[in-house]
Amino acid sequence: MKAVITGISGQDGYFLSKLLLSKGYEVHGVLRRNSSMTNGTVAHLPEDIRKQIIIHYGDITDGNFLSNLLGKERPEEIYHLAAQSFVGYSFQNALSTYDANIGGTLNVCNAIKDYSPDTRMYFAATSELFGQPKEKPQNENTPFLPRSPYAVSKLAGLWTVRTYRDAYKLYMTNGILFNHESEVRGPEFVTRKISLGVANIYRGSGMPIMLGNLDAKKDWGYAEDYVRGMWLMMQQDYPDDFVLGTGEQHTVREFAEEAFRVIGINITWKGSGVNEVGLSDDGKTMVKVSRDFYRPLESDNYMADYSKAKNKLGWEPRVKFRELVKLMVESDIKRMNNE
Ligand code: GDD
Repeated sequence: MKAVITGISGQDGYFLSKLLLSKGYEVHGVLRRNSSMTNGTVAHLPEDIRKQIIIHYGDITDGNFLSNLLGKERPEEIYHLAAQSFVGYSFQNALSTYDANIGGTLNVCNAIKDYSPDTRMYFAATSELFGQPKEKPQNENTPFLPRSPYAVSKLAGLWTVRTYRDAYKLYMTNGILFNHESEVRGPEFVTRKISLGVANIYRGSGMPIMLGNLDAKKDWGYAEDYVRGMWLMMQQDYPDDFVLGTGEQHTVREFAEEAFRVIGINITWKGSGVNEVGLSDDGKTMVKVSRDFYRPLESDNYMADYSKAKNKLGWEPRVKFRELVKLMVESDIKRMNNE
């Protein structure tokens, strides 16, 4: 079996390439020209695994590149993970988000249709499609009401995939994945920002962690579980769309509390809004709030109903919230100790 992964330098590319190699796949990865094998999470892969990945330098916004790649390689599967994936940033750069996420997805769909119609496609959709859902938990039938340029672009991607799937009878699947994190998550995302901040404090930095909306409610799982779900979506008799999540809801505040608990610090909150702080029992400021990390519109209240994935794919998350926080903080402490 041969698989192409776009966005191989991201967190999910890391776990997915490991999974596919362990299953005996020939793994091809798409990397942008300004990336390299020493950049991104690819660099974290053990040398023996990294050497097995065949890299193609190119950009998903280049339709010719993708058509040539698929026409030449004709992989059984393509996992389209590459995207401008920062929700907050998408408010500042909506057009480049649309170019990468809508144009890039359309290019993958066209390349499959015209050059490799037997290739199965996974598209990385997102819980952000639900916007600020009133109903809880959310599943495949929950209305999509996106509230960021990022979510709008992913909605266009999802509908492009559905349209191509129906019109041209292609095997294309949308994974509507809730937040999934890990020890190789980018430091811009709130969970890793917290785990790194806590590890720094553990090492004596004395620097409080600056956060935005502490009350955002998300459903956080472990990325390794989610790439297993992606693979399962590609092995079915018919293509379909699936929600993956944990079914648990936690706030950013709870994530921070749990992370500090790992290093034996109990957090008490004082004040409100941007004046709120998280204090340790001996009165030291561990968390501060900054307007800089608020978004023009928040999307939260997330909690996944993954029963369709459970029933049809036999998928379930193995790692839940507390274990996730613990493994992230412990990994960052370990990494810092080795530096
Ligand atoms: N990044 C960040 N930084 N977010 C913060 C901060 C902060 O300092 N403080 C609070 N937050 C809140 C955000 O407002 C948001 O509600 C929540 O923390 C999570 O933010 P992120 O970790 O940046 O992730 P996201 O939920 O916006 O998006 C991620 O998950 C989606 C669902 O799987 C990304 O990976 C998306 O690409 C993905 O689609």
